[in-house]
Amino acid sequence: MKIVVTGSNRGLGLEFVRQYAARGDEVVAACRMPDEAAALRDLAGSTAGRVTVLRCDVADDASVAAFAAAVGAGAVDVVINNAGVAGSWAGLADVDMELALRIYSVNALGPLRVTRALLGNLRKGSGKRVASVSSGLASIADNTSGGAYAYRLSKAALNMAAKTLAADLASDGIVSVALNPGWVKTDMGGANAPTAIVDSVRGMVGRIDALTLADGGRFVHWSGADSAW
Ligand SMILES: NC(=O)c1ccc[n+]([C@@H]2O[C@H](COP(=O)([O-])OP(=O)(O)OC[C@H]3O[C@@H](n4cnc5c(N)ncnc54)[C@H](OP(=O)(O)O)[C@@H]3O)[C@@H](O)[C@H]2O)c1
Repeated sequence: MKIVVTGSNRGLGLEFVRQYAARGDEVVAACRMPDEAAALRDLAGSTAGRVTVLRCDVADDASVAAFAAAVGAGAVDVVINNAGVAGSWAGLADVDMELALRIYSVNALGPLRVTRALLGNLRKGSGKRVASVSSGLASIADNTSGGAYAYRLSKAALNMAAKTLAADLASDGIVSVALNPGWVKTDMGGANAPTAIVDSVRGMVGRIDALTLADGGRFVHWSGADSAW
């Protein structure tokens, strides 16, 4: 299988690359700044050519277009829209609207840019899966704690994108879901997070493997349960 992972230089993205490459899949590892992605380049160097590192800033139309051109016209089986930013956890009084728009561009529009640019590749693939890494903070039903406006809004919009893609792409046999990775010990999640990176990603890889068309439009927790919308 050929897997594309965005935001692959650290955190969950790097672990997705590690796990897929370890089981023999071909991985296109997209990151904003390949020259500074030492851990990813080391990993790529140890995988006998199974991992290709390419530049892709998901917030930049030109960068996504150049990325898609570098991927070429061949089949892609799975697109994992993992790149994301917290940017700010600000509450109502402190929301920076310009920053909120930038967070929206990365978290909500980034997956749309990448999925649209790789649609022809996905149609040629046999995997036909688009998995977008969302967040429990996207949930409207579960939101009793408030705050984190920019991030919550961006990830709720991402959930809508994942669901809308599921409706639009089903006729191509392509499944789109939103994934909830849990609260994970990454730079974003912080040291107090209860879930190890390796466990969250192992769970999400298992969920992605098991997807069928009937799962299109689900919001799936890494453990397999449905997350509340
Ligand atoms: N950790 C958690 O507890 C948690 C919980 C819920 C959801 N998530 C989601 O899980 C995903 C991965 O998060 P993480 O915890 O691994 O965070 P992380 O360690 O902060 O990594 C974020 C990744 O996204 C990349 N990125 C940011 N902006 C980008 C852009 N414009 N274009 C391309 N790549 C970009 C970063 O690249 P640079 O190094 O170049 O900045 C980095 O590789 C995110 O979508 C996040 O919202 C995480």
